[in-house]
Amino acid sequence: MKKYTKKVFIKTLGCQMNVRDSEVIAGLLTANGYQLTADPIEADVILLNTCAVRQHAEEKVWSEIGRLAKRRRKIASSLEGAPRNDGNNKPLIGVVGCMAQNYKEKIFERSADVDFVVGPSDIGKIPGIIESLTGKKGQTTESGKSSIFERKIWETDGEARPEQIYHTGFFQDKEHAYVVISEGCSNFCSYCVVPYVRGPIRHRSQVDILREIKGAIDQGISKFTLLGQNVNAYEYEGIDFAGLLKLVNGLEGLKEFSFITSHPKDTSVDLFRAMAEACKLKKYLHLPVQSGSDRILKAMNRGYSREHYLQLVDKYRKLLKPALLSTDIIVGFPSEEEGDFQDTYDLLKDVGFDSAYIFKYSVRPGTAAAAMQDDVPQAEKERRHGIILQLQKEISKKVKSKKEEGKSTS
Ligand code: 5AD
Ligand code: SF4
Repeated sequence: MKKYTKKVFIKTLGCQMNVRDSEVIAGLLTANGYQLTADPIEADVILLNTCAVRQHAEEKVWSEIGRLAKRRRKIASSLEGAPRNDGNNKPLIGVVGCMAQNYKEKIFERSADVDFVVGPSDIGKIPGIIESLTGKKGQTTESGKSSIFERKIWETDGEARPEQIYHTGFFQDKEHAYVVISEGCSNFCSYCVVPYVRGPIRHRSQVDILREIKGAIDQGISKFTLLGQNVNAYEYEGIDFAGLLKLVNGLEGLKEFSFITSHPKDTSVDLFRAMAEACKLKKYLHLPVQSGSDRILKAMNRGYSREHYLQLVDKYRKLLKPALLSTDIIVGFPSEEEGDFQDTYDLLKDVGFDSAYIFKYSVRPGTAAAAMQDDVPQAEKERRHGIILQLQKEISKKVKSKKEEGKSTS
């Protein structure tokens, strides 16, 4: 009889870091004999890789858990008396990623359907956790029942991830790959949950990063994005981010690369020079400004002023012509008044970003800003959000047509 291959369905929510984390998990599970499936119905294991950066992201996860759990109950009842040939008749549901770390065992309190919870630093343990939950064939607990669903594990206290998890050689896209250069963040912007859920910044060694990229090049992948919450802070045994760019640029077989995300407080002319020198680097910078008001930037603990930011943009554009620039904006941060909002509006107009991601402030329990009064009414947040969205839409259109004009006349 043909051996049954267990199937795993992975749903990814959130940022590019999560996209890569899901790939890492998929690589580990396939190396352990699992097969990926795009259909949760036929899955033995369902994994939700979650985001905790805004409340909206979390709400999406709760409703997804509810939906999957409902399906699972349906599957269980339809399969009653006719279990799969591996002995299990319902898929396991695991919540992994930032929300897992944020809520830990509280996830079980809110949803009895979740079987296990794994934080971002412990994704390497997922194959072992699944194995321990499903138990060895025929194994029973003291109660005499199958061990499945008897135990709920949460493993969220790991530190740096073991290096080998990045080297399964699994890449979903055959042309482009994400490569993590640093994990976590130590900036503690007052609104942000990331340092709490992903831990302090840890940099990977350049030897390991290059080895991972070379492995992907050997598979025919030629485009890369280096990932980190604040890539400019990269530092490993005397090599800084500019040094890493040079090393990556020198890799044979690599055609193009870029990086996200940058932090204005760690971005300097030195970086722009390194960017200019790296011929394979896409001339693109995602430089979140968050607000145009100095008072709000201070309350956000961003570590730079509006003026500093504008000077950076100026230098960037002078050194890297023509170059793309994008940003993130938060409207409705605690105590943001009309004047602060106007400062953000004016900054956007002055800079003329190619694109911008606009967010409404959302309280993240445990952060410094959670102790401030969330005093901008929701309707006002929405108004400001709408105004900035509309403004950026017009700017993006203008900037694009100007650049196209420049191209056709040059
Ligand atoms: N509320 C709204 N937006 C947030 N971001 C991070 N935390 C919050 C929050 N609590 C936004 C920032 C960041 C992007 C990834 O998400 O703009 O750059
Ligand atoms: Fe969050 Fe700030 Fe770190 Fe970005 S730099 S992940 S906004 S704490």
